[in-house]
Amino acid sequence: MFPIEQAAIRFSFARTHLCINTNDFTNPLLTLKTQNAMELRLGDTAPNFTAQTTEGEIDFYEWLGDSWGVLFSHPADFTPVCTTELGRTAQLKDEFAKRNTKVMAVSVNDLDSHKNWINDINETQNTTVNFPLLADPDRKVATLYGMIHPNASDNSTVRSVFIISPDKKIKLMLTYPASTGRNFNEILRVIDSLQLTANYSVATPVDWQYGEDCIIVPAVADADVPSKFPKGHKVIKPYLRTTPQPNL
Ligand code: BEZ
Repeated sequence: MFPIEQAAIRFSFARTHLCINTNDFTNPLLTLKTQNAMELRLGDTAPNFTAQTTEGEIDFYEWLGDSWGVLFSHPADFTPVCTTELGRTAQLKDEFAKRNTKVMAVSVNDLDSHKNWINDINETQNTTVNFPLLADPDRKVATLYGMIHPNASDNSTVRSVFIISPDKKIKLMLTYPASTGRNFNEILRVIDSLQLTANYSVATPVDWQYGEDCIIVPAVADADVPSKFPKGHKVIKPYLRTTPQPNL
């Protein structure tokens, strides 16, 4: 093996395994603590995995099939904010289904814990958990997706959300602190925007809601606008052109 390859393997091992408990910013190894084994970015392929879930062993890609996916983590089982989030996710089953979207939650607890906790979620949130809760006690998936942020907590996952398109690309990444429950209406809103902008030459403006006007992307030449957007358009500035939502 060439020295450069050995060095790369050593560096890769260090990134994956080192965790330095210090806030010494002069320590050159400190940056390793803040890096995940794999730093995912928008547009990257979502890594595949096989894991135990409350709905049996799942191969992530097989389970996704041709659907969109939401993979989201939360700090731990039997915690109050997470209980409300998973309850809300279950209540939104039909909304996710309408958008051809499958949802999977990740938690670093084991399967028995998940199963017991689901009873509490169903009871207190007046719902039935109807999506898989992945058991990740060895933090395999949490590490793969960079869901552990050591400067926030060495042990538990932060509130990460990944939206994954049918071609398995990461289309959205959100990171919330443990103390703030997420807004699942926002997650649905982003899915609507992503599915729309995947099919039409539009973008969605600030605070856009389904049914509202969209922005014609700058790449569309003025001459092509009438044929591409037969519902009409407005020119507010040469670079700011709007049209009714094209798929309605
Ligand atoms: C939770 O419910 O997950 C939680 C609440 C407060 C602080 C951290 C986590």
